[in-house]
Amino acid sequence: MFTAKKLRQQYIDFFVSKGHKQISSASLVPQEDPTVLFTTAGMHPLVPFLMGEKHPMGLRLVNAQKCVRTGDIDEVGDCSHLTFFEMLGNWSLGDYFKKEAIEWSFEFLTKVLEIPLDRLAFTCFEGDADAPKDEEAAGIWKVLGVPEHRVFFLPKKDNWWGPAGETGPCGPDTEMFYIHDVEQFDTVAKGSKEGFQEADKLKLMVEIWNDVFMQYNKQADGSFVPLTQQNVDTGMGLERTLCVLNGYDNVYETELFKPTVDKIKELATVQDDIQSLRIIADHTRTMTFMAGDHVRPSNMGQGYVMRRIMRRAIRHGKKIGIEQHFLGELARIIIDQYSDIYPELGQHREEMLKAIKDEEDRFTKTLTQGLKEFEKLAKQIQEEGQKTIPGDQAFHLYDTYGFPIEMTDDLAKENDLEVDLQGFEKAFEQHQDLSRTASAGIFKGGLADHSDESKRLHTATHLLHTALRRVLGDHVEQRGSNITKERLRFDFTFERKMTPEEIQQVEKLVNDAVQAKIDVYFKEMTFEEAQKVGAIGLFEYKYGDTVKVYFMGDYSTEVCGGPHVDNTGELGGFKITKEESCAAGIRRIKATVAANQ
Ligand code: ALA
Repeated sequence: MFTAKKLRQQYIDFFVSKGHKQISSASLVPQEDPTVLFTTAGMHPLVPFLMGEKHPMGLRLVNAQKCVRTGDIDEVGDCSHLTFFEMLGNWSLGDYFKKEAIEWSFEFLTKVLEIPLDRLAFTCFEGDADAPKDEEAAGIWKVLGVPEHRVFFLPKKDNWWGPAGETGPCGPDTEMFYIHDVEQFDTVAKGSKEGFQEADKLKLMVEIWNDVFMQYNKQADGSFVPLTQQNVDTGMGLERTLCVLNGYDNVYETELFKPTVDKIKELATVQDDIQSLRIIADHTRTMTFMAGDHVRPSNMGQGYVMRRIMRRAIRHGKKIGIEQHFLGELARIIIDQYSDIYPELGQHREEMLKAIKDEEDRFTKTLTQGLKEFEKLAKQIQEEGQKTIPGDQAFHLYDTYGFPIEMTDDLAKENDLEVDLQGFEKAFEQHQDLSRTASAGIFKGGLADHSDESKRLHTATHLLHTALRRVLGDHVEQRGSNITKERLRFDFTFERKMTPEEIQQVEKLVNDAVQAKIDVYFKEMTFEEAQKVGAIGLFEYKYGDTVKVYFMGDYSTEVCGGPHVDNTGELGGFKITKEESCAAGIRRIKATVAANQ
């Protein structure tokens, strides 16, 4: 058996032998410039460096990165889509480009992993008004021995990656596919674009790796401006690659899922609902990794996504006849399995398990009743010859029984119905003074740009962090941060509501720092040195042994990737606009900062 451990190691070793430095996986919750909820690719934490900032570890990097992609949630249950996965990636930050990237991909696939060339197909960008046809990439594959009929040219929607958000680094890519049935593939694909698209529909192959040539910066107006440096960003799906290396036809057969799948089968009374079984296996793993990065089920942001996948898993558990609580039991298996690679899972195991148990207790209480209510409703709508569940009814299921709207939507589809989602949003907004983030819109976020607004807010975030510790005590720890153009958001551990005096004191400390016009600068140092100089912050954001520490006079010393303003005097008045509870033991502050006129 080809194990995950071996594949991770071979990948890292291979790229280290080509001059790359290994960096650790960043948290699933983006800590820097987070306008996305989760890290969806290895490049996310590297955006500043793809844009030209100097990375402390150099120009060539490699790692295995934890990723969550909720966009694929409806595909979960098939052979290869997952909401959590590990991405093996290597990067060139303005160093090597297409030739080396493709040659090394080829060498790793055919020499190290020993995948027969006959099993592989490749796609390249066909070109459009924004960028030319990628003859160069195709030419390199052919020189390496890939036959003409296995290289396909596809449009932007297939062979262009990024930006991760609305704006940022992106470029044409070349993708690598493993062919399940060689004869059938060649018969259907016939070396043509249309044939390849047909083969894709028939799932005759699976994408395992993507080399992106990030040489453009997408602007807010939709145009593509060349970046100052030509980067390479690659991503290989660990689970999928492991699956094909072992000759399995779906990822759930790999050792990564086997213990969970076996346990689910043991608990279930219905054995033939493969889709439900896979959904549970996928979602419980995602839940566990989210919990490991301090996410807790809630009605907002990351917490809402976690709640949604947990409740979905619980409902599918019920569908296959699991009577008892099961999420905690599966989480334990997953923690044991992964904590040697991702030690954060083991470090606060009991806390994680408690959060999982609490959520399962909460939802199990209302699920049965809610399902009865749904069935009644569905029957009534069908009898009336209607097709749509009204928005206010969907809201009732949400509000009274805790059914995430996506769950009601799932249930509706299973009954050949649909939900009036707009009506739901309206009811939601009317009834709740909750942020719209809990509605479906949240799942499209983007990475923040490096605009002046976001730099100012980012610097203000550091000052706020220190001010909170000075006013409330050193036990205050950051739990999350999010910046839009308009405001910053900062989540931190604290047990109670802040008093108006405390809020005022915090505002004053930040504004004092602004008025003091302090220079902002960073130094690269080892992890130990950073601790010695008393840097606060999320040490998860470290690259191998070196971290970047940002200094703002006596006001703040914090580990961070940047970017920041050059002087705190660039900030105008700082104001806390909201202080509220975010989850048990966690408070959330929203604040604004003006530009200094
Ligand atoms: N960032 C690229 C991807 O996710 C490699 O496919």
